[in-house]
This record gives sequence, structure tokens and C-alpha cells, in this order.
Amino acid sequence: MGKFIVTPVSTTDYRRLAEKRLPRFLYEYIDGGANEQDTMAANIADFRRYRLKQHVLRDVGDRDTSTTLLGQASSMPVALAPVGMAGMMARRGEVQGARSARTAGVPFTASTVGICPIEEIQAAVGVAPWFQLYMLRDRDIILGLLERAQAAGCGTLVFTVDLAVAGMRHADTRNGMLGGGLKGSLAKLWQIGTRPAWAIDVGLRGKPHNFGHLRDVVPDPNDLNAYKAFIDAQFDPTVTWKDIAWLREQWHGKILLKGIMEADDARAAVEAGVDGVLVSNHGGRQLDGVSSSISKLADVASAVGEQTEVYLDGGVRSGIDVVKAVALGATGVLIGRPWVWALAARGEAGLTDYLATLQKEISIAMALLGVNTMEDLTPDLIED
Ligand SMILES: Cc1cc2nc3c(=O)[nH]c(=O)nc-3n(C[C@H](O)[C@H](O)[C@H](O)COP(=O)(O)O)c2cc1C
Repeated sequence: MGKFIVTPVSTTDYRRLAEKRLPRFLYEYIDGGANEQDTMAANIADFRRYRLKQHVLRDVGDRDTSTTLLGQASSMPVALAPVGMAGMMARRGEVQGARSARTAGVPFTASTVGICPIEEIQAAVGVAPWFQLYMLRDRDIILGLLERAQAAGCGTLVFTVDLAVAGMRHADTRNGMLGGGLKGSLAKLWQIGTRPAWAIDVGLRGKPHNFGHLRDVVPDPNDLNAYKAFIDAQFDPTVTWKDIAWLREQWHGKILLKGIMEADDARAAVEAGVDGVLVSNHGGRQLDGVSSSISKLADVASAVGEQTEVYLDGGVRSGIDVVKAVALGATGVLIGRPWVWALAARGEAGLTDYLATLQKEISIAMALLGVNTMEDLTPDLIED
């Protein structure tokens, strides 16, 4: 693959362009995983291991990539995953991301720790995003955020449960993004100085850079270290299934429980009354050494697929991966890093192009597999 990119096409192309555009610490914040990054690598490698069965001469003239994700019509079985600080990767990044998602006809998920709050996204885009939340110690903050999400018209709550404590992402310390005192601050300034286009477009013109949902509760949202201290203190390691039952009572929309890797947890989630489970290891950013999400999908789908919708994220890098996940039992997938790379590289237009390519890849793969609809994507299309 050449280094010179006229028109970015693949996820790798956008990743490379994002690297050129972003200050080092922001690029590595997206790119990195926990500890030795074994799980992050496995998420991608294991997708590649599954082989598809090609079928010919089956009339694939009427292909339809559309589907329904938690009651919402979607042009393809893909949604944009919650990614913290996306608004630091492009100017008002969550708004741009949500606009691309609207153009593509897929759901966008706003992170608890996004830069643009749901109200800004809703007002600018005209569509309420899905809203992602973690359990925080202070339940009043949770209730306040649920109220805001409801008022903004969010229909789906993506509730993340694999963050009882924050994973060890070494790059964020190594490059000075977190901690490091004066040295860390100077390192960040230097890294920003090498990316003047970003510094003007996002650094200066993309303000305010605080965390839109936590503005009123984080002591100094402009200070990343203060924010990290707040979040570390607020992550609640005492959360149990009882809290999910409590949440179920508070939230009247759909709940997608994010971070389920085992069949027994998936069964408990169904019992707690959620509307979907998301097989996810947080893109390999939490427990390093856990299996890839794709290798767990079939287990979870066979345990609870009849009772609830099953989703997957982690390692989806192409339309081929989307097709594999749906064939293995997913109603849909979420993509994390890929959408942020496309956004960082080329803004809303880049992400819109990226999503169009993804849909084209899905449609072409369906044609060559000999199927016309999402329902036709079944496990027998995957080699044992
Ligand atoms: C930079 C970054 C920030 C993230 N922030 C959040 C977040 O705020 N909340 C959350 O539930 N998941 C978060 N995630 C996890 C993603 O939602 C998703 O699970 C993961 O990125 C999927 O893997 P992929 O990047 O290989 O597609 C984040 C992931 C990345 C890469």
C-alpha cells in the first residue's frame, strides 16, 4: 500500500491521515488500548480468521442493507459508538459526527465524556443521538443526565458496565496527556505546535473544550487532570445488577447494556430487563487479556439472542466485518475508532464518505455471498 493518499478509502487510510493531522497525544488516545494491547489486537485479528462462504447464481438483484436497531430504522446494521472527547479530534466533533450519521442514516451515540452535549447535537443536527452513560457514584448526577437525555429526545441509553475502574492505558501517561506536571504540559504544547492546522481549526475555533455533560459538576473541566481525578473518583466499583434494575425503573426508553462478554452476564442482563446487550471489551481499552469480542459473539447470541437484541463492537474495520458479525448473530455493530479517524482526517465529509464506503462494502459482500437481506445473513455462511 502506497503512502500517498489521493482519496482515502479504507479505515487504514483514514487512520494514517488522522495521525498526520492530530497532536500526538490525541492520536494515541484514540489509537491505544490497555496494557500490552493484546485484546485490542485480537479484536482485529480474530475478525480476519473467520472465513465466509461464497455462493453464486442466486439472484442478488434486490439487495437491502437496511435494518432496525433498537426500534430505529437504520440504513445498515451499523451505529457510531460512544467515543469520549471526539470534539477534540475535529471542531465540534460530535456535531459533525452526528451530521454524518444522519446523512448515512445510522444512529450516533453521544459519550458521557463528549465535548458537545446532547442538547447541542440535537439542536444542530435535528436528530437526538443515543446517549451513553456510566454509573457514577453520585446518583443525582445520573438522574440529572437521564432527565437531560429524555428532554433532548434520546430514545436509547447505551449503559456502559465495563468501567468499574478505568483501564491502564499507558500511552496517555507516556506521552504527557495525563500527569507529568510541567513536563507533561510542555510536551503537549510541543505536540500541538507540530500540528498548526489542528491548532487553529480545533484548538482555537473549536471551543469550548469542556465536557458538555459534566460542565456543572467537574470542578475545572478545562483541566484534563482535574477531570481525570473527578472521573476516577466517580467511577463506581460497587455497582451490581441491582443498580441496573434501578436504572431500568428510571429510564423509559431502550437500554443497551455495553460491555457484556459472557453468556451468564448476558442472561442476567435479560433478567434486568434491558433491550439489548453489546458484546464489547471497550475496544481493548479495559481488561487486557480478555478474548476478542467477535470470538464471544456466537456464545452470547445463542444464550440470549431469542430474548433480546445482541450487538457487537471492537475490531470492526470494514463492511466485510459487519457482515461476519451479523452472520454470527449480531443485530448490528458499533464502530469506535474508525469513525473518529475519518472525522479527524477529513471532518464531516470524510466520515460521510467513509460510511458510504462501509455500506457499499456490505452490499457487495451480500451479493457475493448470495443474499439479499440482513435476515439472510446466518451462521451457515461462516466456515466452521
Ligand atoms: C478514544 C476512545 C474513547 C472512548 N470513549 C468511550 C466512552 O466515553 N464511553 C464508552 O462507553 N466507550 C468508549 N469507548 C469505547 C467505544 O465505545 C467502543 O467500545 C470501542 O471503541 C469499539 O472498538 P473499536 O474502536 O475497535 O471499534 C472509547 C473508545 C475509544 C477508542
